[in-house]
Amino acid sequence: MPVSKATLTRIQEVAARYPSKQSAIIPALWAVQHEQGYVTEAAMGEIAQALQLPPSLIEATASFYSMFLTRPEGRHDVVICVNAPCMLRGADEMKDYLQRALGVRDGQTTSDGAITWHSTIECLGVCGGAPMMQVDHQFEENLTPERIDAIIDRLRKQPAIHGAAATPAATDPKKPQAVPPVKGEKVRSGAEGARARGKRSQA
Ligand code: FES
Repeated sequence: MPVSKATLTRIQEVAARYPSKQSAIIPALWAVQHEQGYVTEAAMGEIAQALQLPPSLIEATASFYSMFLTRPEGRHDVVICVNAPCMLRGADEMKDYLQRALGVRDGQTTSDGAITWHSTIECLGVCGGAPMMQVDHQFEENLTPERIDAIIDRLRKQPAIHGAAATPAATDPKKPQAVPPVKGEKVRSGAEGARARGKRSQA
């Protein structure tokens, strides 16, 4: 599916803000992922053309940051941290609970297409709220089975955060697209694109 004209225009507008077009690669990848849900090789080529950069630079960036998806996944992306601090606070039990609740293995998507989940041994940078997981671009901390149930329930009812035409918020790293919390729930913003991590090993 070709990248929409609106998104390509937006990418060029964002690129004009920076002295180097390379600085616009991440916002451009976000814009395409926001529109299509993931970034295909063809879309990376379109980004390269829009930014007048070699396609290899776009591909290198997309493959370096684990938040960029290169194939279709569920409407919502859930990554649960099982690094040592989270593990000491029960991450393994929470991961097992999440797996049972979703009924699919690590790296798989629920049958209704709502949620793709992964575990990661890469610290997600919120050890103070361990055990935690990242849901789309939000951190969900101090997980318990009850909290996981509430989050899953919420996600099953919510549309994907991608699928809309690119907006200024979609390409502006200062304005992450928030998933609204349920009433009374404590949610902190995830680092949208801020942390480079190794690619998830279990895809
Ligand atoms: S170890 Fe899980 S957020 Fe740091």
